[in-house]
Amino acid sequence: MFRDVIKMGHPKLMHPAQAVSDDEIGTESLNTLIDELVSCLHHYKGVGLAANQIGIDKRIVVIGFDKNLRYPNEPSIPLTIMINPCITPLTNTEIDGWEGCLSVPGLRGVVPRYQSIRCSYRNLQGEPMAIDAENFMARVIQHECDHLDGICFPMRMRDMNQFGFEDSLPEFSNASQV
Ligand code: NI
Repeated sequence: MFRDVIKMGHPKLMHPAQAVSDDEIGTESLNTLIDELVSCLHHYKGVGLAANQIGIDKRIVVIGFDKNLRYPNEPSIPLTIMINPCITPLTNTEIDGWEGCLSVPGLRGVVPRYQSIRCSYRNLQGEPMAIDAENFMARVIQHECDHLDGICFPMRMRDMNQFGFEDSLPEFSNASQV
């Protein structure tokens, strides 16, 4: 039994998610929700998933994958669970890159993202953590944390000529077969 992924336009995805309180961290009920989130990440073969994408109104993000057919050329990312994540850019440099989203199925677009960021968050035990990430991992974290603020990737795009269905875009006619 897996929760459905909510699609762009649904009210639960279009406004900011609630912060997780200190008291909630480590509780059985929160850990059960996080288990569901991780199960959905793997079931839907995402590279990352925000809790509000499966209807959980909490600021939690999970990222991680070994090999992903939708991003065949990108390095793997270890499974990381982030509670109340907060991003600080480490550079002003932005890089354009193609993104897709489980909440925007079938579509891809070019989105500018900071090349390197620091992400501060709480782990499952409530300990404060911080990781520095660049390039694809930084992109994934920015994409997922945007969901917690009610932002889906098309809302970040600057050139709608670089937006379309992945089975029609020349950039993906080969990649999708890998
Ligand atoms: Ni997404």
